[in-house]
Amino acid sequence: MSQPFYITTPIYYVNDVPHIGHAYTTLACDVMARYKRARGHEVFFLTGTDEHGQKVEKAAQAKGETPLELADRVVKRFQALWERLNISHTDFIRTTQERHKKGVRRLFEKIQANNDIYLGAYEDWYCTPCETFWTETQLLDGKCPDCGRPTEKLKEESYFFRMSKYQQALLDHIEANPDFIQPKTRRNEILSFVREGLRDLSISRTSFSWGIPVPGDEKHVIYVWFDALTNYITALGYPEDPQGHFATFWPVDAHVIGKDILRFHTVYWPTFLLAAGIPLPKKVFAHGWWTVEGQKMSKSLMNVVEPNMLVDKYGVDAIRYFLMREVPFGLDGDFSHAALVHRINSDLANDLGNLVSRSTAMVTKYFRGELPAAEVQTEVDAAFSARFPAALRTVDAQMNEMAFNKALQAIWELISAANKYIDETAPWTLAKDPAQSARLGTVMYNLLEGTRLIALLVNPFMPDTARRIMTILCGSGEDLTFAGNDNWGGLKPGSQILKAEPLFPRIETE
Ligand code: MSP
Repeated sequence: MSQPFYITTPIYYVNDVPHIGHAYTTLACDVMARYKRARGHEVFFLTGTDEHGQKVEKAAQAKGETPLELADRVVKRFQALWERLNISHTDFIRTTQERHKKGVRRLFEKIQANNDIYLGAYEDWYCTPCETFWTETQLLDGKCPDCGRPTEKLKEESYFFRMSKYQQALLDHIEANPDFIQPKTRRNEILSFVREGLRDLSISRTSFSWGIPVPGDEKHVIYVWFDALTNYITALGYPEDPQGHFATFWPVDAHVIGKDILRFHTVYWPTFLLAAGIPLPKKVFAHGWWTVEGQKMSKSLMNVVEPNMLVDKYGVDAIRYFLMREVPFGLDGDFSHAALVHRINSDLANDLGNLVSRSTAMVTKYFRGELPAAEVQTEVDAAFSARFPAALRTVDAQMNEMAFNKALQAIWELISAANKYIDETAPWTLAKDPAQSARLGTVMYNLLEGTRLIALLVNPFMPDTARRIMTILCGSGEDLTFAGNDNWGGLKPGSQILKAEPLFPRIETE
């Protein structure tokens, strides 16, 4: 049996339409999911939408819709965008689905039965946009310490989760599992937060009704983060698990999130799970935030980057490549059109695009497209082909660290090496001398075989491009798995190579 691999995106709020920030998280998970599939894993890749809570209720009111009407409308925008971006998710969960609501109730009841939920009351400062309560001392100038917006004093009867009881168990877990929270800076942040002490957590609301009612006390709705986080197990079929997905895929290999929602995923969620006796996630990876042309993305600045527009203009693989290449995963980064165009022209059109068009043009010109055998190997050739097994290992290590930009760097070193190999072997000179025909054939073979392996490596990042390259080289672009395909020598001499159209036209800049 192949090893299971479970990866999740956050579920997106439906009060906002998708932008480049949402696309980023989802894309990173897609790249990882595709990589693991190509490595032979059985992958469950989950995304979805977070549809309950006051934020959504208010957004719907403002639009004169019911919350569900709003959700039904916006969810289509997310789904259509994922299709355009070639996102290969296994499942899409909506928190308004019955399968989810049932699972949330069951988790609540389970923790309650364990005596870790009690009815109480509190009075505290509430930030509506963040759906978070703060103590007086946590406020910054009376404002929410996370988003800086005004807070309001609220008093409510509420169910509380005994989070304080799990402080030590959580600390022990974080300390014993260095990979649990990544990157390291985020881990340290959470360690000091937990060491300062955990309060019990209010996990129900009575001030609005758009949510899942508390079992047995319907004037309360379950706190939206308790509801939302549980999607990671309800999508697998928790608790009945009719298809065995929960048994196969839990604990999750990676929850990928933005840094803004770290505490929910590394403090709240694990303590809920501890209370329910469910194993904890193997890894929570928090990526950074994108600014746009140096500024925070916001509706009021009207600088929100709309991914569909980018795909129209530059093509899906160029966007996928840029987002994964430009910024180390885990750090903040800046999106600019100039940087995007630069990447497209230099990395894609020049390096990768030229490699494919030059090599296929030469084999067409010199051998009518019929792939020669590699019969006259020299040191240059051996040095070139020897790079591949090493690069495959490097890429694997980088991918397992979610160091997408470093994996791409390693792949681009191969591409540069291939372009350099052309310059060093100078096929156009060999072609002038009929006595060098076998040598020329060897160069052609090595070049195209290298290109084939590059396509395998590029595939998780740019699946359309990889398929196009494989179709040119093998007549079929379907099989891009590593096993059985990642050794040198996969191309069969005598096979027909097609002439390539340019993969990435250069973008002209004024
Ligand atoms: N609904 C919650 C998540 C619940 S998960 C159980 C939520 N939704 S969200 O739609 O507001 O944000 C989802 C993700 O988008 C977060 O991971 C967030 O970090 C990411 N991004 C939103 N804006 C972003 C940028 N400008 N840059 C990068 N990612 C950003 O939070």
